[in-house]
Amino acid sequence: MPGRIDGQDIAIWRGASGQVHAWGDRCPHRGMRLSHGFVRGETLACIYHGWQYDADGGCDHIPAHPNLVPPKTICATTYSCAESDDVIWVALRPTDEKCPSLAGLRGVRSLTIDAAAEQVASHFGQAVNAILRLGTADNITLALQPMDADHCTAHALSDARADRTDVSRWLEHQRRVIEGQPA
Ligand code: FES
Repeated sequence: MPGRIDGQDIAIWRGASGQVHAWGDRCPHRGMRLSHGFVRGETLACIYHGWQYDADGGCDHIPAHPNLVPPKTICATTYSCAESDDVIWVALRPTDEKCPSLAGLRGVRSLTIDAAAEQVASHFGQAVNAILRLGTADNITLALQPMDADHCTAHALSDARADRTDVSRWLEHQRRVIEGQPA
């Protein structure tokens, strides 16, 4: 899956064991997006020339040179990531921060908004924060992911009993309001 955080394109993938990885979305060979690639077991292969990268990001196979052991310098950019309460968290820089607890909530929908994360937070009367707890009856919570200066993605979670369609419609409505579209 492609992702974008603070202007950085990310390829997020899950190996056969279930382990999640977040890498820079650029193949070290000729720059193809790794998010277009395909997962084989615990490796990610680039769709262009098939260079294959192991779970640590190192290239372990070059189809055009099957007998070559690729040098260790050929390596995808890797980032720390963790999965907690059904949300995948990616850190572009080293951090000791723990993932916020979202226990009891379930993911409903992710929506890109044409507005900075600060603008979305301020729309809900909150300071910008990775997590906006909105205090609604359905316990709607938004995990805000800044994409760049003018866009962010809002990942909506809610109580497991909430109607997913209602929460999804609510989020669409909020997006239209924030973007200044007719509601
Ligand atoms: S660009 Fe990825 S293998 Fe060539």
